[in-house]
Amino acid sequence: MMKNATLRQLKVFESVARNLSYTRAAEELYLTQPTVSIQIKQLTDIVGLPLLEQIGKRIYLTDSGRELLKVCREIFEGLSRFEMLVSEMKGVKAGKLRLAVITTAKYFVPRLLGLFCQRFPGIDVSLKVTNRERVLQRMADNQDDIYVLGTPPGDMDIEVEPFLENPLVVLAPGNHPLAAEKNISLQRLADEPFLIREPGSGIRLATEQFFAERGLKLKVRMELGSNEAIKQAVVGGLGIAVLSAHTLTLDHNSEELAILDVQDFPIRRHWYLAYPKDKQLSVVALAFLEFLHTESKLIGEKYLQGIPGFPSQRS
Ligand code: PGA
Repeated sequence: MMKNATLRQLKVFESVARNLSYTRAAEELYLTQPTVSIQIKQLTDIVGLPLLEQIGKRIYLTDSGRELLKVCREIFEGLSRFEMLVSEMKGVKAGKLRLAVITTAKYFVPRLLGLFCQRFPGIDVSLKVTNRERVLQRMADNQDDIYVLGTPPGDMDIEVEPFLENPLVVLAPGNHPLAAEKNISLQRLADEPFLIREPGSGIRLATEQFFAERGLKLKVRMELGSNEAIKQAVVGGLGIAVLSAHTLTLDHNSEELAILDVQDFPIRRHWYLAYPKDKQLSVVALAFLEFLHTESKLIGEKYLQGIPGFPSQRS
């Protein structure tokens, strides 16, 4: 029944109930008094109980009138919140969002951006993908709005916030003898020739630290400047490598590449959103952060399931 009430009737009622006067409500809403009376009469018919009582010259709210007034306030408050949201959305429509992310984030961030751009069409996004050292340099030079890192620095005054897991796994060619073994020791692993990323890479840093903390040094066969190049070189039999599990999405072929079952692996890590502490974030950047907070968990969970080796290491 209340579904038949119109917003206009509720608005008129709210005004009469607040002013306790038909005349003042009519003035406030630029309506004639008979129009106000008709709207209240129609609303009363819909509710099926009197909302207002007139005793002498004074108007009183009945119990149902008081309850309806509360509901009206909630509805109008909700609408005004929505209005604010829309004007914020309109406000960010024309903005520009500059992101700089480390190499592993390029597998996930573009998906998020796809949804973000759908929600805020017209936002101009630039995405710089590079290694940790260069991302940190860009942050020091204040070149972008928001940064994604895998290993946040300890010595910079920045806000950081973890948002999705980014574990490191050991990859070998599918036909490698270790591919069939279980719980391979780190000692044994360190005998293998390794393919590693360029200096400045966060993955390289994390890998070297991990082995150094265990008193081991890797035999580096070759240094390559990208995760994809390393994957191809592993498939080509040049060595084994520690890479982010995220590099295995989409095109993973388990015959060509095996994730080795190594003691203490995967190395658990996260991606972090970061920006300088004193940075004034733009409306667009704030909208993006807000979007990430609400969406990245939802999209992320589904996405992580698609990564080989991921569900098993979480169980
Ligand atoms: P990198 O960082 O591109 O600097 O190696 C990737 C990561 O830390 O996941």
